[in-house]
Amino acid sequence: MSAAPGPLPPVRSSRPGPAKIAVLLSGRGSNFVALAEACARGEVPAEIVLVLSDRPDAPGLDRARERGIPARAVPRRGLGQVEQERQMIAALREAGAEWVCLAGYMRIVGPELIAAFARRILNIHPALLPAFPGLDGQQQAWEYGVKVSGCTVHLVDEGCDTGPIVVQRVIPVLEADTPETLAARILEQEHRAYAESLRLLLTRPWRLLGRRVVFDDIGGSTARPLVTSQG
Ligand code: GRF
Repeated sequence: MSAAPGPLPPVRSSRPGPAKIAVLLSGRGSNFVALAEACARGEVPAEIVLVLSDRPDAPGLDRARERGIPARAVPRRGLGQVEQERQMIAALREAGAEWVCLAGYMRIVGPELIAAFARRILNIHPALLPAFPGLDGQQQAWEYGVKVSGCTVHLVDEGCDTGPIVVQRVIPVLEADTPETLAARILEQEHRAYAESLRLLLTRPWRLLGRRVVFDDIGGSTARPLVTSQG
């Protein structure tokens, strides 16, 4: 069961300055907004330096511009995946992005983009992976009749929702739930899970052991220097 909602305490990172994050989205951008607000409150030692979309009409782009965050579309149409992603990589590098957060980005990420930000691309999925990957995870879970569901933040690999898991948050599926009410309660948890994941990855030493993301001093001090993944 999830903990009671509430802001995380501010963190003081030993890292020199906030990490530079880019967000890729295709839609409304509520996860982007939640992440931007968590950064602004000091809960995540990061700043969002760029929002990119494959869709020029994505509402999330406007939500970024309202906050003064650079936002632009790189549509795939007319370019194809490889060239579109090359242009995205160029924009990400120009912005100085160190991490890429997929937040409702409705594309499978290709090998060049994954290699350009190796172990630095995150995705959020509205189900408890490895159950119900792909589209409409909330609806899939509701139709299947599971009694708990939730969300997963994971590192991105070349599969669809298959990368190593960073954080999962769990909620009960209620008798009275519809796919819509279940999705709404999962979304509340998504907004917490993304900030929690980045905060962990940016402030704790962590490693990949096989496909397990392991935080070495999960109970320890946040004042330790950032140690990035190995192996
Ligand atoms: C979220 O449910 C996320 O898990 C999924 O796409 C949705 C995006 O929502 N990958 P939003 O655009 O962040 O509001």
